[in-house]
Amino acid sequence: MKENKYSAIITAVGMYVPEKIYDNAYFESILDTNDQWIISRTGIKERRILETGATSDLASNAALDLIKAHDVDPEEIDVIIIATVTPDMLFPATACLVQEKIGAKKAWGFDLSAACSGFLFAFQIGCSLVESGQYNKVLVIGADKMSSIIDYTDRNTCILFGDGASAVLIEPSEDKSVGLQDYILGVDGSGKNALYMKGGGSLYPPTHKTIDDKMHYLYQDGKAVFKVAVKGMADVSYELMQKNNMSAEDVAFLVPHQANLRIINATAERMGLSKDKVMVNIEKYGNTTAATIPLCLVEYYRDGKLKKGDKLILSAFGAGYTWASTYIVWAI
Ligand code: UT7
Repeated sequence: MKENKYSAIITAVGMYVPEKIYDNAYFESILDTNDQWIISRTGIKERRILETGATSDLASNAALDLIKAHDVDPEEIDVIIIATVTPDMLFPATACLVQEKIGAKKAWGFDLSAACSGFLFAFQIGCSLVESGQYNKVLVIGADKMSSIIDYTDRNTCILFGDGASAVLIEPSEDKSVGLQDYILGVDGSGKNALYMKGGGSLYPPTHKTIDDKMHYLYQDGKAVFKVAVKGMADVSYELMQKNNMSAEDVAFLVPHQANLRIINATAERMGLSKDKVMVNIEKYGNTTAATIPLCLVEYYRDGKLKKGDKLILSAFGAGYTWASTYIVWAI
């Protein structure tokens, strides 16, 4: 295999969540549900909701937070990749809208659709562009306005999701002991009917009937996804550890997609990790789809818990099915 010229490292991070909160008491007031059921089955207490604006606003605010916090010149950004399943429009790409909003005058970019694995797939592409020596600054953003595709009369799904965005900047480093080390990515289209939004694409373009049939909302067979997600995330993360001769002691943190605390705990258990080695913020934000993993990274980094040299396993499973497990060494 050809050696990469550089290692791809995260050099800057940023995040944005809207102010409006839907807590469990709010759902108790509009649905037949209760705080105790939601917490025990999912671990979620609150989610953030964007009342005005779209995914490009979430993504731009996360990018601007990164730019401000790390004193980055937006004109030096080469590429913008946005992982999302809730683009502002089918086209143009949300990356174009973000490019304009943040003043990244020299950048090109595109959107990537891989649902809950979207950030890790986008991160992989971003790293490849940097490792090859082609580009110096690649901005990868996970952003989703899930509230735009949620049916707030469906208690099976609406309590799970929230809105948010988070960004990382990837740059080359000659020190190969830090940055992206290894990964396992996969898709399995046989899961296509377990979690999807049926309407609005070329198969079912919007009509009065598609609206009446609620085809523009997210649908999930929760039980089916739960089973494969537990196995998928746990097995693939364990496989990645084995592949890299890592024991539980070597891992500083598991950074799991935040869909359900029970899935997170099962993955940690399979990897032999204690709870203090697992990044969790699902109680505050719920499932923000492409944003969950970078939101964890930013919060733990800013709290001083994530340190240079820490070995991390980032892990996701979602619609498609899609899955990803990525081993990085934190570099800042
Ligand atoms: O991020 C993408 C990947 N997505 C996931 O990983 C999500 C995977 N799935 C899950 O997290 C879980 O399956 C859910 C949280 C969605 C559901 O938890 P569950 O333990 O699988 O519950 P269930 O679907 O088996 O439902 C149990 C009961 C049902 O009642 P019956 O049929 O047993 O009478 C539901 O109707 O709980 C009921 N229920 C609720 N009760 C109160 C479902 N939603 C609610 C609710 N409040 N919000």
